[in-house]
Formats: sequence, C-alpha cells, structure tokens
Amino acid sequence: MTAENPAGQRVVIDRYPDGALRPSDFAVEAYVPPIPQDGEFLVRTMFISVDPMLRLLVDAAPFGGGMPAMPLGTTIPGAAVGEIIATRNPAFKVGDLVEGRFGWQTLAISTGTGVNRVNPALGKLENALGIAGLPGFTAYVGLHVAGGVKPGQTFLVTGAAGAVGSAVGALVRARGGRVVGIAGGESKRRYLMDEIGYDAVADRLAPDFAAQLASALPAGADVYFDNVGGLLFPKMLPFLGRGALILVCGLMAQYQPDDAAVGADHLPDLLRAVMFKGLRIQGFTQLGQDALRPAFEEELAALIASGKVQPKVHVEHGIERLPQALVNLFDKSTTGKVVVSVDAASGSLSARRTREEAN
Ligand SMILES: NC(=O)c1ccc[n+]([C@@H]2O[C@H](COP(=O)([O-])OP(=O)(O)OC[C@H]3O[C@@H](n4cnc5c(N)ncnc54)[C@H](OP(=O)(O)O)[C@@H]3O)[C@@H](O)[C@H]2O)c1
Repeated sequence: MTAENPAGQRVVIDRYPDGALRPSDFAVEAYVPPIPQDGEFLVRTMFISVDPMLRLLVDAAPFGGGMPAMPLGTTIPGAAVGEIIATRNPAFKVGDLVEGRFGWQTLAISTGTGVNRVNPALGKLENALGIAGLPGFTAYVGLHVAGGVKPGQTFLVTGAAGAVGSAVGALVRARGGRVVGIAGGESKRRYLMDEIGYDAVADRLAPDFAAQLASALPAGADVYFDNVGGLLFPKMLPFLGRGALILVCGLMAQYQPDDAAVGADHLPDLLRAVMFKGLRIQGFTQLGQDALRPAFEEELAALIASGKVQPKVHVEHGIERLPQALVNLFDKSTTGKVVVSVDAASGSLSARRTREEAN
C-alpha cells in the first residue's frame, strides 16, 4: 500500500480526567496510518471494545503512579476485532479476521504480537470481544484458579451484569454449579435471570438487599468472584461460607476517585472473617495465561454449539460513541458486554458470518 493508504479516525486522550471520567477528556481525530513495514500488517477494525481497565490507563498517575502517564494525544489502547487489509507479515494474510489491542482507531498497524485469529466456532465477530474474548477468558481463568466448579458449589458474583460477571454466570451454570449475582436494579436482575441463567440475583439498590442475599445463600457462598471491590466488598463477608475462596478479579469501584467509596476502614472486618471462617483470598489476572486459551475456546465452542451458552453483546454505533460508552461503564448504566461498531460493513459481515455458520 502506498500513497493510497486510506485515512482513518482514532480516539485520543485529550486531557487527564479530573475526578470522574468525562467524554470531553477524549478527542476524535482523522489520521492516516503508516504504511506496513516488514513483519507488519494493517487492520481495518470493525468492533472496538469498551473495558474498565482503560480508566486506569488514562489517569495522570496510572495505578497510583506505578506507571508513567500516557502522553496526551495517545490513541486509547483498547481491544478490537477487524480484518487485515494489507500485510507484510507472512503469518497473516489479507482477509484474516483478527482480535488484538489495535486501539480505538479504524485502521491499525500491528506486528501480530498478542493477536488472536477469530475462531469461527465462537459465533459472530463481536463475540470475540465478549464471552469469546477477554471477558470470557477472564471468567475462565478465574474459575481455573478457583479449581474449577465442583458439584454442589455456590458462586457469588459482584458486577454480575457486567461483561465478566455475565460470562462467569454462564460458565458456572453450564458446568453444573449454582450462581448468585449482585446487580444494580431490576432490569439488570431480570437480564441475569432470564438471559444468562443466574439462579438468583440480589439487587444491591433494593432496601431489602441483605435479606435477598440471605435467602439466596442459606449456607453461604463457596466462591466469591469479586469484580467490584470498594464498599460492596465488606457487605459480602457475612454471606460467605466456611473456608470460602474470595477471588479478586477486579476493583471496578476503586478505579476512579469517588467520595462515596471512601468509608470506614473495613480491614478489621475482613481479617475477622478470614480468621473465624477460614477464608482464603486470591487475586488473579488473565495476562500471561495464553496456555489456557485452546481449552477455553474448545469448551466455549461446545457450549455455544449445544445452546448451553448464548453469547450476547451490546453494540453501539460510531467511533465517536466510544468515550461516552466508557463513561457509562462507571455510571453503571450498561448491561453485559459493550462494543462499538466502527465500520459500516461490519454489521453485514457479521450477519454474513452468522448465515455461513448456520449453513
Ligand atoms: N483480572 C483480570 O485479568 C481482568 C480482566 C478483565 C477485567 N477485569 C476486571 O473485571 C471487572 C469487571 O469488568 P467488566 O468488563 O465486566 O466491567 P463492566 O462490564 O463495566 O461491569 C462492571 C459491573 O460492575 C458494577 N459496578 C461498577 N461500578 C461499581 C461501583 N462503584 N459499585 C458497585 N458496582 C459497580 C456494575 O454492576 P451493577 O451496577 O449492576 O452492580 C457493572 O455492571 C473490572 O473490575 C475489570 O477491571 C479483570
């Protein structure tokens, strides 16, 4: 590709957030990508992922200063799925459908590092950013760290209606476990019960939240899969059974300054529960767990084929929707996995793929 290299659009960080994230912290701009060099390829992205971890990365002092700030004007480094349109990398050919950290942009150069080929057995293209991608793989790795789903076990999941929480619920149920979720509001509760298959869901906004949890967990949970942290975390301790495992997957409530999240010191409560209930607490990350990916894809493909898991993705349209979509994650107004379609052709390509798979 030479002078005809197409123009694209990208979303960059325009200013570091001051408190809660705002769409105006970002800017959408036109750009022309570089020409692929030896070992590189050019991807036309179709669906771009909206992930909570991005909130930490756009901070003036990411991870509490543990990482240098990304310079203003940097493209937001999100995951995306797309089609290769030019290549000088012999391992990838034009037309390949791939998923990777291509960034919030419509055209991206890649060397192929960290890039996964989209597995056609996992359904629509956009699923590669949902249960068939990072959120689903995170759920799978968490269950692996927990030692699998043992007969009779009950899982308790916070942020259940989010991308990871929905995937945890679907996988636990498919493996024969019992799963109880926490969600904010009746519509999310219904989504989890009717569409994902949660056994019970407690509404954290309802006045009788504790009573709902007590009735859903008469013997206490065996595994507490925490996506949220913050002030929700100590509220879960009374509902954990003896010897329960607390699996810390994410700390959604702690990613941006929030006065409401600053409360009393709950460490003594946690230590008391660890001591008297014999609790274990374990953090984990999906990073570096690529060896588990083939087994994950095999299990998920079988679950999708049998109808035990029905992938769901909420699609918004237009690259300019990305900043607001990320803000919405922290407003807690989204349900399930949110992706943004950035390519007019992606809807029809996705539909074509689905039709081809059905034949
Ligand atoms: N360990 C890993 O390798 C790994 C990988 C990917 C993601 N993660 C983490 O997994 C977590 C979930 O990610 P996701 O993609 O599923 O996020 P998501 O789709 O944005 O959903 C998160 C859910 O958390 C709840 N929530 C958000 N802020 C909250 C607050 N302040 N207080 C209480 N609840 C709040 C909301 O549910 P309700 O309002 O319904 O309660 C929301 O549905 C995040 O912490 C993320 O960083 C970890």
